[in-house]
Amino acid sequence: MGNDLLDKLLQSAKYRDICPETVRRVWADCVKRYKKPRDVEKAAREALHGITGAFMTPQEARQLAYDMQAWYISKTDAGLERMLSRHASTRERLPLADMDALYERIFAASCRPESVLDVACGINPLYLGARGIPTVGIDISGAAVYAVNCFHESYGMPVSAECADVLFPGAIPSAHFDMALLFKLLPLLERQKTGGAVRVMEAVNADWLVVSFPTRTLGGRNVGMAVQYGAWIKAHLPAGRRIASSLETQNELFFALH
Ligand SMILES: C[S@@+](CC[C@H](N)C(=O)[O-])C[C@H]1O[C@@H](n2cnc3c(N)ncnc32)[C@H](O)[C@@H]1O
Repeated sequence: MGNDLLDKLLQSAKYRDICPETVRRVWADCVKRYKKPRDVEKAAREALHGITGAFMTPQEARQLAYDMQAWYISKTDAGLERMLSRHASTRERLPLADMDALYERIFAASCRPESVLDVACGINPLYLGARGIPTVGIDISGAAVYAVNCFHESYGMPVSAECADVLFPGAIPSAHFDMALLFKLLPLLERQKTGGAVRVMEAVNADWLVVSFPTRTLGGRNVGMAVQYGAWIKAHLPAGRRIASSLETQNELFFALH
């Protein structure tokens, strides 16, 4: 049904940067749930917004390109902070001093990595690269992937990213990493495919896996998510992993799995 509508969605200004396999997958799921083409299109747009579009607007992505240029000239922490404020997930970890303190706690609880795989990275690799930690990212957001690759190609930072959907086999690199980050991803994956979160954790080849969950809604409300996600991860540990430690910030809950 509605291949014209699917093509329209794939080419629309809002969604043309998203990994096309994801758009087709979400579309196929909506076709199973709705009969009317207009309902399918509405549901697909809402789903894509919820899993990726909500985190960085096209305008923020454009501003990020200017911020990156300005940061490269000044190399100040204020400039880095401005860049990281362009995506909702990194913005929630600011100010930068808090983000530095957070990573110190994560590394103290696991290892000081020389290689990081950042799964569904958003623009988090910009932070890691600016702090000298070589990072490979994956995301379905073409805008986030473009920003990460630009940070390497134009500014020489040790980062790169692939535009890929981790729910497809083979999307996760088979190479070994000291650490893999899966920040604020697992509930999003479960929403897209039941059992997808555990499969993705199991596909990662890394000594340490650091996963995180939001503890507040995008609007900032505390609705008991920490307790709910704490119980979820204990019940869904990937094969061969144990929880080595956990830590919590004002709005995020982290688990280091070894
Ligand atoms: C809440 S944001 C977290 C971004 C980053 N991990 C952070 O915490 O700074 C979720 C990210 O997951 C990406 N994403 C959602 N579903 C995905 C999938 N199936 N494959 C790859 N990336 C996905 C979105 O594009 C978005 O950048």
